[in-house]
Amino acid sequence: MVAGKRILLIIGGGIAAYKALDLIRRLRERGAAVTPVMTRSAAEFVTPLSVAALAGEAVHQELFDLTQEAEMGHIALSRVADLIVVAPATADLMARMAGGRAEDLASTLLLATDTRVLLAPAMNVRMWQHPATRRNLATLQRDGVLTVGPNEGDMACGEFGPGRMAEPMEILAAIERALAAGPLAGRRVLVTSGPTHEPIDPVRYIANRSSGAQGTALAAALRDLGAQVVFVTGPASVPPPAGVEVVRVETAREMMAAVEAALPVEAAVFAAAVADWRVANAAASKVKKGSGGLSLDFAENPDILASVSRRGEGRPRLVVGFAAETDDVIAHATAKRARKGCDWIVANDVSPATGIMGGSENAVTLITAEGAEDWPRMGKDEVARRLARRIADALG
Ligand code: CTP
Repeated sequence: MVAGKRILLIIGGGIAAYKALDLIRRLRERGAAVTPVMTRSAAEFVTPLSVAALAGEAVHQELFDLTQEAEMGHIALSRVADLIVVAPATADLMARMAGGRAEDLASTLLLATDTRVLLAPAMNVRMWQHPATRRNLATLQRDGVLTVGPNEGDMACGEFGPGRMAEPMEILAAIERALAAGPLAGRRVLVTSGPTHEPIDPVRYIANRSSGAQGTALAAALRDLGAQVVFVTGPASVPPPAGVEVVRVETAREMMAAVEAALPVEAAVFAAAVADWRVANAAASKVKKGSGGLSLDFAENPDILASVSRRGEGRPRLVVGFAAETDDVIAHATAKRARKGCDWIVANDVSPATGIMGGSENAVTLITAEGAEDWPRMGKDEVARRLARRIADALG
């Protein structure tokens, strides 16, 4: 709920600034107050008059504005809000934030504030992908800054790719999440989910029976506790939950790259049923029958859970893996926890008789450093809620 809340909206200088006008309108419609701040270059894209008219409040633009300073100093201005939103957050503004600069009103407010900050980045694809922006983003996320978007699509500059600012309704949803009270409010967590598809040729692949139901339920449960969830999913048969950042992948190697790109996070839960093997001799064009038998060579896929668990710098504080076993569940899962180096293993018995794989229920054993804890058989949603609460407790 944004009603009764005050948003300090910093509008950066980019073509997406026009969407900030719509965002102001939607925030006001829902009963939020908006204090607008514009950078000098933002005023090249939208007029301060339009912004002020929609916000119903004066626009703050200059660091050294004696009239405004007399009414409210910039330190006070940085503290009046329940949340600071930067939309569009340009590459330059992000760089200045990451570097702790205070050379204009916007960057000074961002440095002086003790309020949470949500960025809606918007920039050219190459700028978004540039190592400098990746570095700045990682620094900001480590500092606890929240982000929404950018989305992939056609860009005003004529290129295609990630860099388009999130739509006003998406930013609004992110604002609602950021303001929602919950034990994981503002915490960034990662969930992998679903199966992976490993191509044999352009039309055929090797897959497994995972539906993605448990990972999806878990992402939703973490979201409901206020977390900012990055949801990296293979081709699952259930749709991803609303209100999480969805990253779609096909193969194990794509999943690995997406997970690396999503770090840093405070907790990471690996619920995906990743294929352990990929076809090493996958064909570039469709394999025709009649050319004799088909023989496949396999190569081992990277173990995403083990690789994240063994990271030095940038390891999430809590790493949780799943273990799908068919016999000696506790012994195998305990050994897997040690082998992979994760903190917890959520073990389940997937022998066909249990009906768990692809079903709606789960009976799990939670393996931690303290030992094994059997949970009664319950719906996957309930397992997810219980696990999300345990994660919230562990992060403190
Ligand atoms: N996992 C992963 N990357 C892989 C394989 C598995 O991140 N390449 C993760 C899964 O998401 C799950 C955990 O590791 O959280 C356990 O996966 P599982 O397939 O049960 O374990 P394996 O490593 O395949 O071990 P085994 O074949 O001995 O059961």
